Amino acid sequence: MPVAVGLAGFRKERRESRAGSTAEEGIGHAERVSQAGLVGTAAAVSAMLAVGVTGNDLPALITELPGPASRAWVDRLAARECPAITSRRARRAAALGASDTDPVVWSESLGCNVKDVDGNILVDLCAGFGVMALGHRHPAVMAAGQAQLGLLPHAMGDAFPDVRRVELMERLCARTGLDRVIFGCSGSDAVEAAIKTARLATGRHRILSFEGGYHGLASAPLAVIGYHVDAFQEPFRPLLGAHGDRAPWGGPIPDLSGHAAVLVEPLQGRGGMRAPADGWLEELHAKARAAGALVIHDEIYCGLGRAGAWLAAGALKPDLLCLGKALACGYPISACLGTAAVMDAWGASTGEAIHTQTFLGNPVGCAMALAALDEMERIDLPGQSLATGDWLRARLLEVPGVRGVTGRGLMLGAVVDHSLRAMRGMQSRGYLVLPAGERGEVLGITPPLVVSQHVLEGALDALTQVLA
Ligand SMILES: Cc1ncc(COP(=O)(O)O)c(C=O)c1O
Repeated sequence: MPVAVGLAGFRKERRESRAGSTAEEGIGHAERVSQAGLVGTAAAVSAMLAVGVTGNDLPALITELPGPASRAWVDRLAARECPAITSRRARRAAALGASDTDPVVWSESLGCNVKDVDGNILVDLCAGFGVMALGHRHPAVMAAGQAQLGLLPHAMGDAFPDVRRVELMERLCARTGLDRVIFGCSGSDAVEAAIKTARLATGRHRILSFEGGYHGLASAPLAVIGYHVDAFQEPFRPLLGAHGDRAPWGGPIPDLSGHAAVLVEPLQGRGGMRAPADGWLEELHAKARAAGALVIHDEIYCGLGRAGAWLAAGALKPDLLCLGKALACGYPISACLGTAAVMDAWGASTGEAIHTQTFLGNPVGCAMALAALDEMERIDLPGQSLATGDWLRARLLEVPGVRGVTGRGLMLGAVVDHSLRAMRGMQSRGYLVLPAGERGEVLGITPPLVVSQHVLEGALDALTQVLA
């Protein structure tokens, strides 16, 4: 049985786990890894496979969390990593009145599980920031990456392309109904490409975004985010221009006649796993059309099955669409897609590519994305996400202390008091979650979309204890 359990498998596994047996899952997965040609390479040194971890296991803790090895690595990290990144923990600690919120340091992963440097087996309910939609180290995706590494690990941005890039562009256009693609390495890259395209296509430069919207921290997206604006934008204000306007999420839509585009997450992620009211997105489209402004959907987080559909906006087609995170299920690649009418505003090349990157459309990322899309289609990942998400929402609402559940599919937010404290409680039990929302008002629950009911039952038990 594959590690990716469809809903049928999901139900079947529940029966098996009640009977105390999930080992079958692990054997199946190990076999698939072997069949995928990974044994003899990375998988041969997998400590997780060696000890029988299936990828759909409950936590197995052998130290307190974080353990001594994690603490030692974090000491080294803090000495060398710019505080831009590591200071976050200190702020969390201060908010809790605690002295230490060191993270656990990861050493290996498989399916929904992560092993830390102390040997603890944990459950990743964040799917690695939403990247690991198919679970960590999916055999088919890994095999595609390994095969491509053995053939052509790198091509040359705008100068010399390769075939995988062409194949992935064709595939993404077929799936989205859009016509042209600009690849990038991060979500920020995709949003930046969309903003630049909107400027060229409309001759305008103002971008409307929404409170709580997060679009990345490179300069162009940073100028238009609506999430933790003071903390993220303030130090860099002189670098950011004055083209970003913000409106309340899901509220009245301002006049867009002076705007190049409106930039929207159809389902807000970091802003609190928030879906707008029915009809709001349609109204936004209508107002933008009427005003000659473009619509950019940022589906970097909510797209590719996360929100229970291929795209969170469903059939509502934007002028520009940003994808990232889960696109290659573990390789940094992103895409900005657009209609021909909008993208062709870039004009014919006059010699110098005016938008490119050294690693643009990297062949390994493209090969892994193609394999990931194959697998997502084969197992109907969006359908699994929707079904599991509906089940999980209902179960979360039964947990005393959960005051509501936001979001859709497996992009859920449990409304709890003191989400940071709850996050720590979950972590100490081996479940990794992150808070979301402007004031951390929800506990974000965004596991790999192939997560089993067995693992989620464990997480629900842990949450019940944490909130008691
Ligand atoms: C909706 C959304 N857009 C853009 C980004 C930025 O992506 P990246 O961090 O890869 O630059 C994120 C990251 O969390 C995101 O959630």
